[in-house]
Amino acid sequence: MRDLLLLGIETTCDETAAAVVRRRADGTGTILSNIVRSQTADHAAYGGVVPEIAARAHVEVLDGIVERALRSSGVKLVELDGIAAAGGPGLIGGVIVGLTTAKAIALAVRKPLIAVNHLEAHALTARLTDAVPFPFLLLLVSGGHTQLVAVTGVGEYTKLGGTIDDAIGEAFDKTAKMLGLPYPGGPAVERAALKGDANRFALPRPLHGRPVPDFSLSGLKTAVRLEALKIAPLSDQDVNDLCASFQAAIVDILADRVRCALRLMRERGLKPNALVLAGGVGANQAVRRMLHKVAADGGTRLAVPPPELCTDNGAMIAWAGAERLALGLTDDLSASPRARWPLEEVTGHDMRDAEAAD
Ligand code: KG4
Ligand code: ZN
Repeated sequence: MRDLLLLGIETTCDETAAAVVRRRADGTGTILSNIVRSQTADHAAYGGVVPEIAARAHVEVLDGIVERALRSSGVKLVELDGIAAAGGPGLIGGVIVGLTTAKAIALAVRKPLIAVNHLEAHALTARLTDAVPFPFLLLLVSGGHTQLVAVTGVGEYTKLGGTIDDAIGEAFDKTAKMLGLPYPGGPAVERAALKGDANRFALPRPLHGRPVPDFSLSGLKTAVRLEALKIAPLSDQDVNDLCASFQAAIVDILADRVRCALRLMRERGLKPNALVLAGGVGANQAVRRMLHKVAADGGTRLAVPPPELCTDNGAMIAWAGAERLALGLTDDLSASPRARWPLEEVTGHDMRDAEAAD
């Protein structure tokens, strides 16, 4: 096994990103470049991501982003061992742009293509940043996803729990919008919460204590709206207090659900080497503080990629591509972009083994 150099392309939502990553034979990795162009400004006026605007913006800038990623890494196209792109799940227009670009490059330079599941890329990032060995518990909390997953290998993902309605990032975004705070809502709510009283409003902790670590956020969101309506018009302090109370509820919910998932893993005979926090909500300091404690209480540790690797980026795609390529897992040019692609449907089956067995 030798070092692998991968280009990674990410276009599933509102970041256009490309990166070059090296995976050494011992399984450790280094980011050689990581270029992210956020479309936040393009969508801000609409209070959320507009799929058509996103797809168009990806088309316009992706070539330039890939060029910059290559140039700043000092790696030439011909030196790459593989081209990885997020093949989903995500907004289909953007996924088509990224995956098609990766196919064109792979074809032109005759390198393997790896169509990476975006969630798998979030899941494996902690192995790049913290060299976390399998198995570990993944808490994936982003704008589109809220899942607890037992990760026992590349392509070995067992979902322990998920949300039955909104994702946690989505709950942050909707709460922010409701309270007149700017998009994206997570950072805005976190900033407001710092100045607020978390005890002023008694908000619900849905599904608290349930034996399966699922989430439900829509009742919490409604509770915030009802409290806001009761005291409208809202002063700045009211908004800060609502944000602080909302964030405290989210932190409590996460703590309880993660404890439950750690317990489930143990019951299945798996000793988690870490609790890995991934996705945009992982940038939240209050969430991080609580999970540090929950992990320590559960006899493990919290591993969180730095904030710029928690939100969407190309390095996580390149790294997941490298982990798959190291196992001989590549895709052919017929790989389809997918809007929906649950993590449990990703496999780590080595095609070469299958061929050898035939
Ligand atoms: O992983 P990500 O960049 O994109 C995907 O959804 O895949 O996550 C974005 C989400 C948004 O909902 C955003 O509001 C949330 O992560 N987020 C935060 C914070 N920063 C980003 N939520 C809470 N606190 C934050 N500091
Ligand atoms: Zn993401």
